[in-house]
Amino acid sequence: MSLKKVLLLVAALTVAAFVLTACAGTPGAAGPAGPAGPAGPAGPVGEAADLTCDECHDAAGAVSVKRAGWELSKHGNGTAMLEEYSNKSCAFCHSGNSFSEGVAAGKNFSQLEAGAAEPARQDCRTCHQIHETYTTDDWALETTDPVAMVVSGVTFDGGTGNLCANCHQARRYMANFAAKDEGGNVIPDTYQTNIRFNTHLSDQADILMATLDVNEILGVEGKPGAHYSMVENTCVGCHMSDADVHTFEPQLSNCVTCHADAEDTNINGFETKFEEKFKELHDALTAKGLFDAEGAPVTKNADGTPLLIDSKTAAALFVYGALEEDASMGAHNPTYADALLDAALAAVK
Ligand code: HEC
Ligand code: HEC
Ligand code: HEC
Ligand code: HEC
Ligand code: HEC
Ligand code: HEC
Repeated sequence: MSLKKVLLLVAALTVAAFVLTACAGTPGAAGPAGPAGPAGPAGPVGEAADLTCDECHDAAGAVSVKRAGWELSKHGNGTAMLEEYSNKSCAFCHSGNSFSEGVAAGKNFSQLEAGAAEPARQDCRTCHQIHETYTTDDWALETTDPVAMVVSGVTFDGGTGNLCANCHQARRYMANFAAKDEGGNVIPDTYQTNIRFNTHLSDQADILMATLDVNEILGVEGKPGAHYSMVENTCVGCHMSDADVHTFEPQLSNCVTCHADAEDTNINGFETKFEEKFKELHDALTAKGLFDAEGAPVTKNADGTPLLIDSKTAAALFVYGALEEDASMGAHNPTYADALLDAALAAVK
């Protein structure tokens, strides 16, 4: 078609359209949408530099280096998660997925309605906000809010260590073992022993804050230690370092900022002295008939009835359990741990 003919056709169509529109009555309903057109041609290949993935998945190994440390810790290789993930009383602390869900829902460890369907570790995603924005912002911690402690009721407010205190807090105090009569009424000043006569292995935050409910019974002052009030970011401040070491082992490089001459964590021989007193308490409790010759807790009298003990004896036994479960050899709160041991020894000697 020549250009002239095209122009003529366009003009004719324009006139026709005008006339048709002008004469048209009410328009009918729109017809159905036509089929989708064919896919357009592929765009240019993206530049790897446009992606943020390599800010973490890079050659320098931000992910793999931290992963290596983490795998050496019980967060990365402990086996308790295999057994405890499906139990709603355990899952918040022992299943990484349940922790993330619980934190998102504003719950604490005692408030889960169900356990997890599959085991998951305390892994990168438990503590960090991995793959939310796919940028390095995702290293942000899942939570650093102060923690309303479930058993003691006090608030743990220790910077980024708050993340840890969500799980590393006591599950029970001595009051949970108050003896009851046949009618279910509490017998005053009397406790019933049990193979789990302790806080659970997670009482590190309670020891830092010195809140065990034996304080009053033993006449020990429950004062948060310098390691709670002075160490920046509490748990993270000692157990990681400026290099964010992911083995979660205490780093001497952090201790020396305050303990200038420290060569190991046994500062001024404190851990050695602690171990000695701790053994002394064990022997005193054994002499009282609370541990058997093999070191197992005694829970029954010779006639098979439950073993009931008075509050001072119970408090001494509870101190033993709480410090054993804390597993820091008193380092979390040296002044408090030492005072507890002295008072416990005095109570059972
Ligand atoms: C904040 C750092 C960060 C960024 C940014 C990031 N990732 Fe990841 N990615 C991780 C971590 C941490 C893991 C878990 C590693 C582990 O468990 O060893 C992971 C795991 C993975 C995995 C293994 C499967 C899985 O989900 O565990 C793939 C695949 C992956 N990332 C792809 C990507 C892609 C693609 C991008 C960019 C679009 C990206 N990542 C951006 C940190 C990051
Ligand atoms: C989601 C709960 C949870 C959080 C959050 C958490 N932990 Fe743990 N942590 C555990 C559990 C559970 C274990 C024991 C795992 C096992 O033995 O199977 C553990 C074990 C440990 C151990 C013993 C390590 C070893 O290898 O012997 C240390 C130390 C520790 N955690 C420190 C920390 C610190 C520091 C933080 C905060 C940065 C933290 N944890 C955050 C649940 C948690
Ligand atoms: C408040 C958080 C929390 C809850 C709830 C909890 N645990 Fe734990 N549990 C821990 C922490 C933290 C550790 C490890 C501390 C350490 O390694 O020093 C631990 C350690 C253990 C260990 C020893 C693991 C090892 O490798 O030595 C067992 C077994 C265990 N828990 C069982 C349970 C069971 C069973 C339940 C539920 C009935 C439960 N836990 C509930 C926090 C919790
Ligand atoms: C128990 C909790 C916990 C777990 C599990 C954990 N991290 Fe971390 N991570 C931390 C804390 C706490 C910091 C210090 C962050 C801060 O102070 O803001 C940190 C810091 C980091 C940093 C430095 C972040 C930055 O801003 O430069 C990287 C990288 C990192 N973690 C990677 C990982 C990887 C990869 C994994 C899994 C293999 C992992 N983390 C598992 C708690 C954890
Ligand atoms: C003043 C530094 C310091 C602070 C703060 C601190 N810790 Fe510790 N922690 C230690 C030392 C030292 C040990 C003993 C380690 C050793 O020598 O085996 C220890 C031991 C532990 C253990 C037992 C490890 C094992 O091998 O079983 C756990 C779990 C733990 N700390 C968790 C925490 C948590 C969670 C917090 C915060 C609530 C915290 N710590 C705060 C220094 C600290
Ligand atoms: C921010 C300062 C600070 C840091 C960091 C710190 N401490 Fe301490 N530490 C103190 C203070 C203050 C005292 C004395 C008061 C007390 O016992 O609560 C103390 C006391 C101690 C004691 C008792 C010593 C004695 O002679 O009775 C031990 C053990 C101890 N710290 C271990 C550690 C270890 C291990 C680390 C590193 C993992 C560490 N501290 C990090 C401030 C710090």
